Amino acid sequence: KILIPWRRRKAATQGKSLGEQLWSHGKSKCCSIQQWDSDEPIPPSELRAGVAGKDGLLCLLSDRIDKEVLDAAGPTLKVISTLSVGYDHLAIPEIKKRGIRVGYTPDILTDATAELTVALLLTTSRRLTESAVEVKNGGWTTWKPLWMCGYGLSGSTVGIIGLGRIGEAVAHRLKPFGVQKFLYAGRHPKPEADVELGAEFVPLNKLAEESDFVIVTCSLTPESQGMCSRDFFCKMKKTSVFINTSRGAVVNQDDLYEALVNGHIAAAGLDVTTPEPLPADSPLLSLKNCVILPHIGSATYATRNKMSVLAANNLLAGLKGESMPSELRL
Ligand code: NDP
Ligand code: DGY
Repeated sequence: KILIPWRRRKAATQGKSLGEQLWSHGKSKCCSIQQWDSDEPIPPSELRAGVAGKDGLLCLLSDRIDKEVLDAAGPTLKVISTLSVGYDHLAIPEIKKRGIRVGYTPDILTDATAELTVALLLTTSRRLTESAVEVKNGGWTTWKPLWMCGYGLSGSTVGIIGLGRIGEAVAHRLKPFGVQKFLYAGRHPKPEADVELGAEFVPLNKLAEESDFVIVTCSLTPESQGMCSRDFFCKMKKTSVFINTSRGAVVNQDDLYEALVNGHIAAAGLDVTTPEPLPADSPLLSLKNCVILPHIGSATYATRNKMSVLAANNLLAGLKGESMPSELRL
């Protein structure tokens, strides 16, 4: 028995979507499926009720799988498959304690997310949304030497917080723009990246002080939570641009707002926020020098389709006691 807490629907492209994969297995009596048939997130109480007695759970990053959900599931739950590479929404110590296996979707979304990160960086640093608005509202009166000027990548220093799969893919895409130097901060140095990218592993403070662009692509953990706060922003250059495509909680948003308003940094681009969705009255939305996207890093049809198939296959393999295509090592 499986619970899928989101809507059954056809994929927008060819290939088998997650629903189709699982439903075809369901028809062949591999498993019986209960699905939350809505695009809105399943309410926690419905999730707890639905997961009771299930063997498998297919969840989204917006579903918090905490102790209460695991208790409600009971001892039958063997596998959790998440449609994401990030797993900060899963209570990993509790899951591990119960011997539950976890599947996730690394690698296949790296290209799409790296591409979006580069797009967000250029949009923010070259003031694309602000400029496009001026064209529509009559603000474009004539060509003016310093109007809508921003910051370019050529000859710049780019600092990446979390040089993992996505961080490295971002760096490879940015190198041809003429970046002079890559700095990175994280838990461990990466000797291969040092060679391939000429990147330097540095303490977070040095990264903040020396980077023209700071890009956050780390995972959200208790250590990285709130890592980019007032102290960090104050160390950044006044002309620097801050980009976050990891998780909103890595950033202290009040401190980021202050840094943007007080000119401690030039601009910020966020694909992730706290909370999500960001309320329409968030002060960040009032700023011209802050570009905010609705968590669309992996949002290409092909990528979401691959993620769906992988998540389905992870779940099915886990239920059969086989090795999963992408299992999180707990
Ligand atoms: P990886 O595991 O390959 O990379 C994560 C990186 O984070 C690692 O390099 C790790 O460093 C680093 N890291 C962990 N803790 C810290 C810390 N305290 N300080 C600095 N760095 C740290 O994952 P991916 O690259 O595949 O994905 C990264 C994250 O991106 C996901 O966890 C997810 O939250 C987010 N994401 C967002 C998307 C979006 O739509 N915006 C799409 C996909 C992912 P080390 O190697 O040294 O341990
Ligand atoms: C992830 O996979 O963690 C993203 O945030 C969505 O693709």
